[in-house]
Amino acid sequence: MIVVATAIGCGTGAPPVAPPPPPTPPSAFRVPADSEIPADPVGASIRRGRAILAATRDSLPDHVGNALRCTSCHLKDGTQANAAPWIGVYSRFPQYRSRNAKVNLIEDRINDCFRRSLDGKPLARDSREMTDIIAYMAFLSRGVAPPGEVPGQGFAKMTPLVPDTARGRAIYAAQCARCHGGTGQGMTNPDPAGSPRYYPPVWGPESYNIGAGMARLYTIASFLRHNMPYDRPGSLTDAEAFDVAGFVASQPRPDFADKALDWPKGDPPPDVAYRTNAAQQK
Ligand code: HEC
Ligand code: HEC
Repeated sequence: MIVVATAIGCGTGAPPVAPPPPPTPPSAFRVPADSEIPADPVGASIRRGRAILAATRDSLPDHVGNALRCTSCHLKDGTQANAAPWIGVYSRFPQYRSRNAKVNLIEDRINDCFRRSLDGKPLARDSREMTDIIAYMAFLSRGVAPPGEVPGQGFAKMTPLVPDTARGRAIYAAQCARCHGGTGQGMTNPDPAGSPRYYPPVWGPESYNIGAGMARLYTIASFLRHNMPYDRPGSLTDAEAFDVAGFVASQPRPDFADKALDWPKGDPPPDVAYRTNAAQQK
């Protein structure tokens, strides 16, 4: 019998099938200690990055369009599990994202939050501030190998519930308004000894825009379920979290001009609150 080698293989018979690689176990969720910040120019950059993320508008007034800072949602300098922590994030990029149907670098993801969550303008990729922010995120990702999976990453998945926004309004008045204000405007802590000093707006012109991830029902419900009220995290039931999330999501906030261009392959998640061009053409 004559064996003809195929274009791809030069062996005989069926090509051996490699066994699938074992799944990479998630790395531990570890917050590096400050003492691990090196005493050199990289360490100085890490410290500048952390300061920018916690005082974003003061550091970058031309790039921030509202009263939030990066750590308004990425709580505790991005080290809080189930609040989209930055632990391991440096190893999670490059990453394909369906929202723009492209492979995104970490710079792209950072600028998405500038444009949407901070209702502002993107940073130049080669700016010192972008370098500093990434230096801090890389520091928080020490010891986490690609693909960068860690427990507590992103927001914990919840079974979607249909919110009762009337009940949500009542929960907001009883449990949220004392910090975020009766009309969602946020406030400055009247007790300067208390920590933190400042409560961010949750809707209205100074909050995140409609294109932000936090504007999506499932995202904010999970954020609230695990993180709010700030001084009693975990105290809301799943139903209460969805009710108050539905109420907050139904309130007015800044528009995002390019929103119709999102999910260009026509696959927006079910909780996106606006129409996209590609989904309408489907
Ligand atoms: C209004 C809330 C909010 C604010 C403020 C905010 N973000 Fe985000 N950020 C999110 C949400 C929601 C996600 C999506 C997380 C997910 O679904 O895994 C996210 C994701 C990210 C990610 C990717 C995280 C990952 O695990 O892949 C990075 C990096 C990031 N944000 C950086 C920033 C930076 C830098 C700023 C300030 C310029 C900022 N964020 C401000 C809500 C916010
Ligand atoms: C004890 C005060 C306090 C209470 C009560 C409280 N929060 Fe917050 N909330 C905060 C603080 C502090 C932050 C993060 C601020 C920072 O570090 O910039 C925050 C952040 C947020 C954010 C993300 C940032 C933004 O402005 O959108 C949302 C959404 C939010 N809270 C909603 C709620 C809801 C809904 C409730 C009621 C279930 C609630 N909070 C109760 C203090 C509070």
